Amino acid sequence: MNYNHSFILEHNAVMRPYTADVAAYCSPFSCEDNDLDEFFSKDAFLYENELLGKTYAWINTADPSKILGLVTLANDSVKAQFIANSARNRLQRSVTNAKRGMNYPAVLIGRLGVSCEYRGKGFNIGSQILDFLKGWFRSFDNKTGCRFIVVDAYNNKKTMHFYEKNGFKPLYKTEQEEREFLELKDGEPLETRFMFFDLKLK
Ligand SMILES: CC(C)(COP(=O)(O)OP(=O)(O)OC[C@H]1O[C@@H](n2cnc3c(N)ncnc32)[C@H](O)[C@@H]1OP(=O)(O)O)[C@@H](O)C(=O)NCCC(=O)NCCS
Repeated sequence: MNYNHSFILEHNAVMRPYTADVAAYCSPFSCEDNDLDEFFSKDAFLYENELLGKTYAWINTADPSKILGLVTLANDSVKAQFIANSARNRLQRSVTNAKRGMNYPAVLIGRLGVSCEYRGKGFNIGSQILDFLKGWFRSFDNKTGCRFIVVDAYNNKKTMHFYEKNGFKPLYKTEQEEREFLELKDGEPLETRFMFFDLKLK
């Protein structure tokens, strides 16, 4: 398989589909999040078999046993008619001829993790992975149209900050709006925030 230049992150990494063979060859991956580590060690392959998600690995070319980061992607869409007016306005602000009933094609970041070995060292692997995905889904040779990257981001300051600094916005401006949309009961935690990145914008 040929990997063109855009597959290479600044930190000397190459992107490959994350198969069981790749996982078996590489050292165990940990991003210090038990749910994500567990997903990447088992469920990622089940998702792949069921065509529910495709996982990609960025591998250190200087030491191919090291995985820098993993991301699981799936097709998704945002159905404008099912979201609250304020959220729809935020989403459609820059869409020409936006219509209430539009169904916007999107790609979902189902899981994302950067190895704890490579975090906090100024490599910005997570941001580089997002930059790569933005370019990839804007590419002229995409098989389908895709307007947004979406993610259910962990609802904590660090994760929200990470996505916001990379140009993502919460679809619901406030937690209250999102809670109402999800019909959460009092005391039920809002564990994730739905965030989007508009691929049409620079
Ligand atoms: C979130 C994550 C993918 C970001 O990758 P990264 O390589 O650390 O990101 P970058 O270096 O490009 O950006 C770092 C920024 O992300 C923030 N951040 C978010 N979560 C962080 C974490 N667990 N550890 C360190 N920094 C984190 C930092 O505050 C930092 O902000 P700053 O640049 O203003 O100082 C990575 O930290 C990770 O795998 N975390 C655990 C799993 C997780 O939370 N995944 C997201 C699920 S929605």
